[in-house]
Amino acid sequence: MEMKTKISQLCQILIVAISMVRVFASDESLPSSLPGCKNTCGHVKIPYPFGISNSSIPNQGPCFLEPKFNLTCVNDTKLLLGNLQVSNINILEGQLELSFFVGGYCNSTNYNRPTLGTASYTISRKENKFVTVGCDSYGYLNSIYNQETYSTGCLTRCNGNRNRIENGTCSGIGCCQVDIPPMMRNISVQAFDFPNSTDSLGCSYSFVVKDGFYNFTVDHLDIFPYKMLPLVLDWSVGSENCKASKGKDGYACMKNSDCDDEDIGFGYRCKCKEGYEGDPYHPEGCIDIDECKTSNNTCIDESHCRNTDGLYECFCPDGQSGNGTLEGGCHRRDIVIKVAIGASAGIIILFVAISVLYLTYQKRKLIKLKQKFFQKNGGSILLQQLSTREDTSQSAQIFTEEELKKATKNYDDSLIIGRGGFGTVFKGVLPDNKIVAVKKSKIIDANQIEQFINEVVVLSQINHRNVVKLLGCCLETEVPSLVYEFVSNGTLFDFIHNTKDKANNPTWKTRLKIAAETAGALSYLHSSASIPIIHRDVKSTNILLDDNYNAKVSDFGASRLVPLDQTEIATMVQGTLGYLDPEYMQTHQLTEKSDVYSFGVVLAELLTGDKPLSFNRPEENISLAMHFLSCLKQDRIFEAIQVGILNDENKEEIKEVAILAARCLRLRGDERPSMKEVAMELDGIRLMENHPWNDSELNFEERQHLLKEASSSIYNEIGESINLGYSGYDSLKDQPLIALDDGR
Ligand SMILES: *[C@@H]1O[C@H](CO)[C@@H](O)[C@H](O)[C@H]1NC(C)=O
Ligand SMILES: *[C@@H]1O[C@H](CO)[C@@H](O)[C@H](O)[C@H]1NC(C)=O
Ligand SMILES: *[C@@H]1O[C@H](CO)[C@@H](O)[C@H](O)[C@H]1NC(C)=O
Ligand SMILES: *[C@@H]1O[C@H](CO)[C@@H](O)[C@H](O)[C@H]1NC(C)=O
Ligand SMILES: *[C@@H]1O[C@H](CO)[C@@H](O)[C@H](O)[C@H]1NC(C)=O
Ligand SMILES: *[C@@H]1O[C@H](CO)[C@@H](O)[C@H](O)[C@H]1NC(C)=O
Ligand SMILES: *[C@@H]1O[C@H](CO)[C@@H](O)[C@H](O)[C@H]1NC(C)=O
Ligand SMILES: *[C@@H]1O[C@H](CO)[C@@H](O)[C@H](O)[C@H]1NC(C)=O
Ligand SMILES: *[C@@H]1O[C@H](CO)[C@@H](O)[C@H](O)[C@H]1NC(C)=O
Ligand SMILES: *[C@@H]1O[C@H](CO)[C@@H](O)[C@H](O)[C@H]1NC(C)=O
Repeated sequence: MEMKTKISQLCQILIVAISMVRVFASDESLPSSLPGCKNTCGHVKIPYPFGISNSSIPNQGPCFLEPKFNLTCVNDTKLLLGNLQVSNINILEGQLELSFFVGGYCNSTNYNRPTLGTASYTISRKENKFVTVGCDSYGYLNSIYNQETYSTGCLTRCNGNRNRIENGTCSGIGCCQVDIPPMMRNISVQAFDFPNSTDSLGCSYSFVVKDGFYNFTVDHLDIFPYKMLPLVLDWSVGSENCKASKGKDGYACMKNSDCDDEDIGFGYRCKCKEGYEGDPYHPEGCIDIDECKTSNNTCIDESHCRNTDGLYECFCPDGQSGNGTLEGGCHRRDIVIKVAIGASAGIIILFVAISVLYLTYQKRKLIKLKQKFFQKNGGSILLQQLSTREDTSQSAQIFTEEELKKATKNYDDSLIIGRGGFGTVFKGVLPDNKIVAVKKSKIIDANQIEQFINEVVVLSQINHRNVVKLLGCCLETEVPSLVYEFVSNGTLFDFIHNTKDKANNPTWKTRLKIAAETAGALSYLHSSASIPIIHRDVKSTNILLDDNYNAKVSDFGASRLVPLDQTEIATMVQGTLGYLDPEYMQTHQLTEKSDVYSFGVVLAELLTGDKPLSFNRPEENISLAMHFLSCLKQDRIFEAIQVGILNDENKEEIKEVAILAARCLRLRGDERPSMKEVAMELDGIRLMENHPWNDSELNFEERQHLLKEASSSIYNEIGESINLGYSGYDSLKDQPLIALDDGR
């Protein structure tokens, strides 16, 4: 405890001492004399290099730099240079102010000519004037140095007439004044009267005076009040200029000061560097100015100012940033940060909001677009149709665009299972793992869309095991998409024509099954369905096969519903070359028999394995129908049958089917059997296959006759019309579907 109190006491003492030192320093520092020397005499401060005698500290030497700076102090009130009283010493300007005598002349016995003999001081040009007062007077200022004499002076004459003398102004009459010439030192001042002066009463006075101190009045012509007047002397140290003095012994300019010898006849002066103040001659040198304590800084205030050696810095307090030199240059950093965070957060929120709005807008636009497509694509009609159906389990489903996109992996190319005139068919997997075929139309054409809708409407009427099942559709896209059951084994066309492995060539049995099932499906469409439907585009590529070679009739894009009270309708001719009913082509009258004709071509295809149009055949037999009939007519039908099918057991059946095909291919629709008859006959042949007839010979004869008769007439008629109809289409081998009408 004792220790602690002692330490605290010591600290207090130290603090007091330091503050005292500070107070002392701030009072005494400017200007200062050497240690042990008198600082002041009377009210006059005595800065070094001036000083009075020796230092009071033993062996410290004199208090002045050079003998010329040796001053004396009388009675502690009067500071004297020689015998003249010094009133001020200026270190900055190198000046010293003292009182000097006035020179006067009254008569030849009563005059005064004072001299200022200190050759080491010059009369300050800037600060003094030489003045002569009197009527009919003149005065001299002489400088005598190294035997050279220079003089200046002025005269004033009033010849006894004082009227023109201006009271209060040294105008040249009664009082004259001139500037001090340079380098006046070791001076003497002389005043004279002009001889025979009429103004014999007054005396003449000449003097050097501190500029602005002397105020002339008329009274002075009679009674001059001053014996002494202040004048200013310039002083310097050394005897050589800066360049010569620098670095030499006795060089007077101390720390933080510069040497200056401009406009100085001899010697030099010292000046504190910028940012420093004090006595540059003092051994301690110039002292740094604390600019922060003065008003001479550009900082906001003292608290934002830090003093450095010779300079100062402006700064912002802790927690603030900015430029402390300017008013309001500092800002609270946290405010700055807050503002920055706020601004950026605002910008982010704004951005997010705009994005959300934009996305919402886009989404709404998309939904509207989808709704538009849905309406355009007959969605409402379809919905109505679907809703009227009783058996909802059978009805087509309406898929969203997203569902289909997901099912087909966004319509991935690797999932394409077919391309046609209408569009592309993709394999897809529904969320319940059901494999489907998605038919996406690529043509943006009102007619095509109509066909799509048509197909949806037609297929939604049908429920038959040999007709491909429509699961649903999507109407949200610009072009609607249809979703079918997936039929795994490709088309009949591929089955017949693209089988590379001839050994694996589908057997006759399979072909017959396919033919019978297709015929059954078409028969159902024509008669058994709720409204008769004409497929209009029966061909091998539109008959799909599943794993068990079950036929599935597909592609009802061109199909027509036939109202019950009508048996034929006028339409634009539509269908595929090679399958197209020539009668329909000519009359534009669509009947069920057109499908029969097309089916006849499919039968011929199944039998011969040839394509419906082949340019390898002679010109008149380009069409398979013609070729087939021609072979029948020439009794060369077995030559035309595809290699590998024919054997002894099925010869009869093949012949039967060939005859049936020929009947289907009759030129006149009336003569063709109905689809129902064809289906029944094919079913019959299939049965016969299982239970071969005993009286086959008779039947064969009968049939042979019929065949010849039929085919010859058909051939002749068809030959003309087909040549006519097909003559321009030689180059259109792969045209899958044509419209032969010249417009609606
Ligand atoms: C200074 O001057 C006084 C008289 O003016 C003289 O008595 C004194 O000796 C001088 N001092 C020195 C150190 O020369
Ligand atoms: C001043 O001190 C010097 C020695 O430092 C000495 O020679 C001289 O006599 C002293 N003068 C006076 C006036 O004391
Ligand atoms: C100094 O003061 C005394 C008494 O105050 C006076 O008699 C003397 O004349 C003064 N000396 C000077 C030089 O003024
Ligand atoms: C000069 O003037 C003084 C008084 O001003 C006077 O006593 C003296 O006699 C005058 N001398 C001459 C020669 O006029
Ligand atoms: C100063 O002037 C006086 C005459 O007034 C002269 O005798 C003396 O030599 C001069 N001093 C110098 C250093 O020239
Ligand atoms: C001149 O001016 C002073 C004061 O400025 C005054 O006392 C004096 O009487 C004036 N003299 C004349 C002649 O006007
Ligand atoms: C001054 O006056 C006297 C007589 O009064 C005369 O002799 C003398 O020449 C005059 N001097 C001048 C310079 O006029
Ligand atoms: C002369 O007049 C100025 C103002 O005009 C004044 O400041 C100054 O003190 C006067 N000088 C004297 C010696 O009275
Ligand atoms: C301020 O500084 C300038 C030069 O930097 C100087 O001239 C001026 O006297 C100074 N003022 C103060 C009040 O210190
Ligand atoms: C502060 O502002 C002043 C005046 O505009 C400029 O001279 C100074 O370089 C600035 N300081 C900083 C640190 O920017």
